[in-house]
Amino acid sequence: MNILLLAGSPSTPSRSTRLLHHVGERLALLGHRYVKLHVRDLPAQALIQADFNDPVLKTAREQVDQADAVVIATPVYKAAYSGILKAFLDLLPQDGLKGKLVLPIATGGSQSHMLALDYGLRPVLSALDARHVLPSIYATDQQIAWSAETGLTIDPAIAKRVSDGIENLSSSLSAISDVAANDFDPIPFSAVRCSV
Ligand SMILES: Cc1cc2nc3c(=O)[nH]c(=O)nc-3n(C[C@H](O)[C@H](O)[C@H](O)COP(=O)(O)O)c2cc1C
Repeated sequence: MNILLLAGSPSTPSRSTRLLHHVGERLALLGHRYVKLHVRDLPAQALIQADFNDPVLKTAREQVDQADAVVIATPVYKAAYSGILKAFLDLLPQDGLKGKLVLPIATGGSQSHMLALDYGLRPVLSALDARHVLPSIYATDQQIAWSAETGLTIDPAIAKRVSDGIENLSSSLSAISDVAANDFDPIPFSAVRCSV
């Protein structure tokens, strides 16, 4: 099962991207594979002009297409998710998240806009036909600290939500993988032998 870590912050360093990578590393410890896609690294002009033929954007869309699960991280900007994330989501096909699990993550300056993911991003993910949008993870800047020496330190209340999100995504992916493994090829009627 493939996981795509989709970073929607235009900034670097980025708090939301650090939290996203933390989630990716924890998923890897549980045996999952992931690839990273940073929207800020995509060609800006092609993105803003919605150039569907741009080869780099095509590759990015293929990365989404090939993922079984997408973990999307964004900063809160003006009470919503980032504009560059929307610019990228706008380039996906109408059912661009069909069959995929999605775990949304956001960081914001305060608690005031902690519902931005639920009222802003979640409807977009549903419109893109996501199979299941898992409960989102929201952290304020004060709740996630980073230093070069100790790495990411997460407030205990958020750490619990992060762990729950990781566990939820991991078990959902394993369940899908088990169902896929038990799939068998249909037997044509002409091949059915009857013993009565
Ligand atoms: C242009 C801009 C707009 C912002 N708007 C909000 C906002 O409306 N609500 C909020 O809680 N934080 C807001 N913030 C703070 C960021 O959401 C917060 O610092 C976030 O963690 C940044 O994530 P990043 O480092 O991944 O970009 C804003 C920051 C910027 C730069």
